[in-house]
Amino acid sequence: MPAKAEAGKAAKKARPVKAKRAAAPSVAPLPVPSGPPLQLLSVASEVFPLVKTGGLADVVGALPAALAEEGVQALTFVPGYPAVMEALEDGETVADLDPILGGEARVLRGRAAGLDLAVLDAPSLFARPGGPYSMPGGGEWSDNGVRFGTLCRAAALVARGAIDGYRPDVVHCHDWQAGLTPAYLHFSPDPAPPSVATIHNIAFQGQMPPDILGELGLPPEAYSIEGVEYYGSVGYLKSAVRLADRVTTVSPTYAREIRSSEFGMGLEGLIAARGADVSGILNGIDLSVWNPETDPSLAARFSRTTLGRRSANKPALLSRLGLDPDSNRPLFGVVSRLTWQKGIDLLVEALGTLLGQDADLVVLGSGEPALESALSAAASRHPDRIGVQLGYDEALAHLIQAGADALLIPSRFEPCGLTQLCALRYGAIPVAARVGGLSDTIVDTNEMARRAGVGTGVLFSPVGREPFEQALVRTCELYRSPATWRRMQTNALRTDVGWAGPARTYADLFRQLATPAVTQA
Ligand code: ADP
Ligand code: GLC
Repeated sequence: MPAKAEAGKAAKKARPVKAKRAAAPSVAPLPVPSGPPLQLLSVASEVFPLVKTGGLADVVGALPAALAEEGVQALTFVPGYPAVMEALEDGETVADLDPILGGEARVLRGRAAGLDLAVLDAPSLFARPGGPYSMPGGGEWSDNGVRFGTLCRAAALVARGAIDGYRPDVVHCHDWQAGLTPAYLHFSPDPAPPSVATIHNIAFQGQMPPDILGELGLPPEAYSIEGVEYYGSVGYLKSAVRLADRVTTVSPTYAREIRSSEFGMGLEGLIAARGADVSGILNGIDLSVWNPETDPSLAARFSRTTLGRRSANKPALLSRLGLDPDSNRPLFGVVSRLTWQKGIDLLVEALGTLLGQDADLVVLGSGEPALESALSAAASRHPDRIGVQLGYDEALAHLIQAGADALLIPSRFEPCGLTQLCALRYGAIPVAARVGGLSDTIVDTNEMARRAGVGTGVLFSPVGREPFEQALVRTCELYRSPATWRRMQTNALRTDVGWAGPARTYADLFRQLATPAVTQA
């Protein structure tokens, strides 16, 4: 990913959980038609469980199954990284793109992890060790602009019929890595399907030098303010925002926030200019991957009706991180990229307050070296109270959600956030900044919500050290009232965090675009 250049609202009413999740598009929903499924080409640079650096992969991996229930059949178009090539079952060459793209390049179609995949097998670009964007020792590949520009170019070829017998009705492009796809569709005389661009994080925009255009085969006229030009460079995300038929982001609040200079990272003017074409559709999580009743990573499985069993996960988690398993102090957990966006510097500053409240902390994550060191140093200073594991560990992430009393998410901005959804599903009370998707998915347990018995978490604003510390204190007070805490956990476990609702909203949007005549009727 390009350097992670990373750039609040009123208390919510009683029982708004479901209502909040319905991120209305500006169109009325259509009934699920009984005819053949709508064909969707989804273009992305990562997909869970094959390649993941963050929530983008989770969304790209989980949405197709939920869309299938809505009569939308997704074909997911991804780069042929080694992990994808290895996982691909019955991969068949369905398009030879050598003559157009130059070099060895073909599209393989097959299945992996339950997904219908189209894979861009271009070994010179993607058959590399390391992460999807970075070299094995860290640092980004210098040709990421060409790598993902080529992904977009190939996606547009597939969208216009490069695979015999396949014509998608709609193209769905995720983040800057898929952002040039609408430009390729736009700057070609051939008929093209409509496109939707989804912004998962506006902080990562993909800005490349203008001479990349020739290399990517986009015509010179594409380099204009009405096209891909962005402050003297080629803007991948900018061009998606400008040229996609619709733009979505991953929560209604973030859709509003990015119209302002505080959150828009330079794209606020363009976003605002697209008006009602920009909407927010909340993410969900895969309820089969995140299921406390069946999760093999837990020490004890539980459900809303057997919540008492959850408590066995806390000692398991404490001992896993080298802390006292018999502690009955409140335990805060963190599962996060350790970055400024995620407010981890605020966590470091607030450690004194956290310990002063007689609470313990477990952290799983990786990210900025200074934050990693600060957390490791704190763990060395307080080995019986703070446990830190640096790195990526799927199973431990699950155990933290099941074993911690509360999950800390002090993000400075959060397009949606998935960890609070996992926390709600597993009964870890989210303590979060009131921004973006966090404010759309968590009901703050303020005095009124507590009395009404509807709170699911603790929200604070503005994002800063003091409000965060106050939230820690407030959380510990709530924890000391077992009946209130139990009620919050029950409410959390009742919250609908699945994909069914959001998938319906996406399907309605896709259908509106694919059948404009119906929209006008
Ligand atoms: P972002 O995509 O901004 O990093 P999200 O909350 O949307 O944040 O998604 C993060 C995803 O990555 C979640 O599925 C979370 O459980 C997972 N995750 C983050 N850090 C780790 C880690 N160190 N180990 C395992 N899973 C992690
Ligand atoms: C980004 C955002 C996160 C969101 C995820 C999936 O990584 O930072 O808030 O949940 O994308 O949409």
